Amino acid sequence: MQRPTSLTDRPEARTKAPHSVAPSPLRSVSSSPPAGLESPSLVADPRTRVYDTIADLIPSPDEPTPLVRLSERTNPNPDFPIYLKLEGGNPFGSIKDRVAKQLLDGTRLGPGQSLVEPSSGNTGIALAALANARGVAIDIAVPERVPEEKKTALRLLGATLWEADDDLCPLYPSEGARGLVKSMVESPAYGGRYISPNQYENALNVQAHYESTGPEIWRQTAGKIDHFFAAFGTCGTITGVGRFLKEENESVRIVGVEPARTEHNLPGMKRVSGLPEELVPKILDRSVVDEIAAVDDQDAYRMGIRLARNDGILVGPTTGAILSVAFRVASQGHGLAVVIAPDDAFKYLSSYAGYLDDEGE
Ligand SMILES: Cc1ncc(COP(=O)(O)O)c(C=O)c1O
Repeated sequence: MQRPTSLTDRPEARTKAPHSVAPSPLRSVSSSPPAGLESPSLVADPRTRVYDTIADLIPSPDEPTPLVRLSERTNPNPDFPIYLKLEGGNPFGSIKDRVAKQLLDGTRLGPGQSLVEPSSGNTGIALAALANARGVAIDIAVPERVPEEKKTALRLLGATLWEADDDLCPLYPSEGARGLVKSMVESPAYGGRYISPNQYENALNVQAHYESTGPEIWRQTAGKIDHFFAAFGTCGTITGVGRFLKEENESVRIVGVEPARTEHNLPGMKRVSGLPEELVPKILDRSVVDEIAAVDDQDAYRMGIRLARNDGILVGPTTGAILSVAFRVASQGHGLAVVIAPDDAFKYLSSYAGYLDDEGE
């Protein structure tokens, strides 16, 4: 595991002046333009898709991410229409953009403090981008096996990257990427320099989905949703959306998807079955989950390839995993289903390549 070497051995990002993470208040216009000279800037308006900051593109019930119906070629059961909720078009590329915004809005930095967070990549990328937009330095600790594309994206954003020997969704609170961050936050050697939003334990992770993803789905389906499918990772999505949907209609069936093995290649997903209770993310509320189903890597990647070829929709492998389970239910089921597509294919092209090479064998 790579450990921070020396407190003075910090890249340029460390030297950024400390800031509060809270969004800065709107600047007031100090002087009016001279007569006849209108300001050349545009008026921000979501209807024309003109925005003042990249963070304003993070979805909300009034500006939701798309729901796209699968074609008959992919899903031949007309009694079980499946809609994918596509999160890959979010400004930083995944469902985690929603969470990162809530986490940063809820984190206060004191003078001289900066951010650090463990992540399988997507939360890290969203946090790093938002931190940059707010002028705050950030360190991200990832499991070393996360795709190179994610590590490069984090470096592109200027985040200080730590790699840990860990499961693909950081698992142990005191080891691996989470342990590294814990030590940076708690060890006297760092003098209280780091603050971590800690997406595994922070209720704001759940809140982000309870306030946005869940209401979006309810509104987009006009309350007709019967089945909801999502993966277990930090468990923010399934808990927040599941809770919202159950409150609206307790008969909506919430299905959680996990990897079939603890060792897997589905970044962001976690096997919760058989996991000692102290390793299960504290934010998981099992009372909203009706069923847990497992998927192996091969089925997940093959489903991603099938979706790309049948419907032209490019999703990450965790979407393939979640969708495989939806098809199992669709083969005997009835009702309208929504499947979360946490991100798109582009950060996983090298992982998909391995499955394309196997074709025809
Ligand atoms: C690609 C991907 N799929 C699924 C998940 C699981 O979502 P959650 O962390 O809300 O449980 C994540 C989480 O990082 C993810 O990045």
